[in-house]
Amino acid sequence: MRAEVAAVTAENPDHAALARAGRILKNGGLVAFPTETVYGLGGNALDPEASGKIYAAKGRPSDNPLIVHIADLSDLEVIASDIPEDAYRLAEKFWPGPLTMIFHKKDIVPLATTGGLDSVAVRFPSDRTAQLLIRYGGGFIAAPSANTSGRPSPTTAGHVIADLGNSIDMIIDGGPVGIGLESTIVDFTESPPAVLRPGYISLGMLKELIPEIRMDPGLSADREDFHPKAPGMKYRHYAPKASLTIVEGPDDEVVPAIRELAHKEIQKGRKTGIIASEENAGLYPEGIVKVIGSRSDEEEIAHNLYRILRSFDDDGAEVIWSESFDSPGIGQATMNRLLKAAGHRVIYTGGGST
Ligand code: TXA
Ligand code: MG
Repeated sequence: MRAEVAAVTAENPDHAALARAGRILKNGGLVAFPTETVYGLGGNALDPEASGKIYAAKGRPSDNPLIVHIADLSDLEVIASDIPEDAYRLAEKFWPGPLTMIFHKKDIVPLATTGGLDSVAVRFPSDRTAQLLIRYGGGFIAAPSANTSGRPSPTTAGHVIADLGNSIDMIIDGGPVGIGLESTIVDFTESPPAVLRPGYISLGMLKELIPEIRMDPGLSADREDFHPKAPGMKYRHYAPKASLTIVEGPDDEVVPAIRELAHKEIQKGRKTGIIASEENAGLYPEGIVKVIGSRSDEEEIAHNLYRILRSFDDDGAEVIWSESFDSPGIGQATMNRLLKAAGHRVIYTGGGST
């Protein structure tokens, strides 16, 4: 099967194409679509067979639950129960938008969609095309990121075509996404609620409304006791094919360290990549140097991460060294994904490594 690709712009949506996509979804088929975070692989969330097809197309472990996307706040109560007042406050402020919330599920949501859990993750995306597709598709669309399991999430339709072009029914091409990293996930099945995955909506933004909210302790732990609550966070995923290592420390130590590490690999004849800030990129004389963005623009860095990881695959890179891009806002999410892509391999220029 070769997927039909339909270009749809948010300003001037092609309703005929979206209605066709909606029919595919209602009939149990799969449609990839843009959201403000990353492209999603959609199927009818209330149809266990459609969910089964999503797992098969991605090659995703069946214990890793899917997010159900809605396009109308009143639909939340159709699929979720025990919704606390704090969740409505987050919804009022951040929905539609890049926030996913987890609640106890209602029986209408099949266990095939939730990876066997009795909870359901719900997201109301702000992307206009996504909203239209969800409505045309019946209102409840299960959608993981539209990549093959283990690859970086897709930020363009081209990435989706490369991974899933032969295994799904249709791809809605809405151009490059805005944010480029997956939504923030907040778990309301525990009290106080916990952030299971950092994203564009930062812990600081959430604390303004819920001061007692916290990070899932399993997320910040180092490699030995890394037991995150969201099943998907435990896989080494978002990963390029090359072996990636992050080098951390002050710039005047990191740059020479990466230069030397890369030089050794290049001498061994290995294709070597470097992920550099705009400020430092000119300081690396060898290797395939990719500029992720300026240190003064953390959103740009987040936006470029997955595209760069994928492009190193296209270059056939075997080893990649990356600078570190920590910052208080979305930099937390960028580092969470970069650490996962690196399998938590970090070299500290002060000496130690993990
Ligand atoms: O931005 C996003 O959230 C994108 C777009 C397409 O909306 N979707 C996305 O889905 O990133 P996915 O499947 O790639 O990631 C969903 C994450 C996984 O880590 C999964 O384990 C976790 O959410 N998750 C889903 N339902 C859960 C539940 N009931 N309890 C705990 N974790 C859950
Ligand atoms: Mg994913």
